[in-house]
Amino acid sequence: MKYFLLQHLICPACLPKEYPLNIKVQKIDRNRDDDIVSGELLCSKCKRVFPIKDGIAFLLANSEARGMRYEEADMVNRYLWCHYSDIMAQSDSVLSSFFWESLIVANSSSSFDAGCSVGRLVFEMGQKSDWSVGCDLLGSFIKTARSIMHRQSLMFSLPLEGKIRETFTVTLPNSWRTDNVDFMGVYI
Ligand SMILES: C[S@@+](CC[C@H](N)C(=O)[O-])C[C@H]1O[C@@H](n2cnc3c(N)ncnc32)[C@H](O)[C@@H]1O
Ligand SMILES: [Zn+2]
Repeated sequence: MKYFLLQHLICPACLPKEYPLNIKVQKIDRNRDDDIVSGELLCSKCKRVFPIKDGIAFLLANSEARGMRYEEADMVNRYLWCHYSDIMAQSDSVLSSFFWESLIVANSSSSFDAGCSVGRLVFEMGQKSDWSVGCDLLGSFIKTARSIMHRQSLMFSLPLEGKIRETFTVTLPNSWRTDNVDFMGVYI
């Protein structure tokens, strides 16, 4: 979790009242935009504690979302294909990302994608906003998006035929900034 996010966070349990969260930092990665790797976010009002684990801030008011999770093998990889195949210059790429990107207004102060999956739109919005944040219920999506954010690149594979898999590498364009981008989990 990057520091810039803190000023925009409020306690989800206290909504519709808006109370800020205080941070207790346990570990910072100085080599990665001072990313807060582990710690806690504490509500100043209800005293609830929300964890930061592996760099991901998890904010959820209650555990009702537990049953909403859907996870299956290769789900993350399929989403990676859908979000980034045009960047990987695959001839049969899905063009939807181009379409959404064209609708983003330039020079906005902030952008937020609720249900961002593996994050393509969040990166796109980061190029046109002061800061851009995505959140998703699925921790594996957020881990994957943050991995791309940190490394600018990620390898994954998909089944080609039977047990044969094809490997792909997503590499964000060099010109894209990621220091103003972050991803949050809403469930562990
Ligand atoms: C159909 S997918 C769309 C993903 C992405 N926006 C895209 O266009 O490819 C819906 C996403 O929303 C997430 N999601 C569903 N309910 C959510 C909630 N209450 N809060 C955050 N994310 C949620 C799911 O985990 C999933 O990644
Ligand atoms: Zn609270």
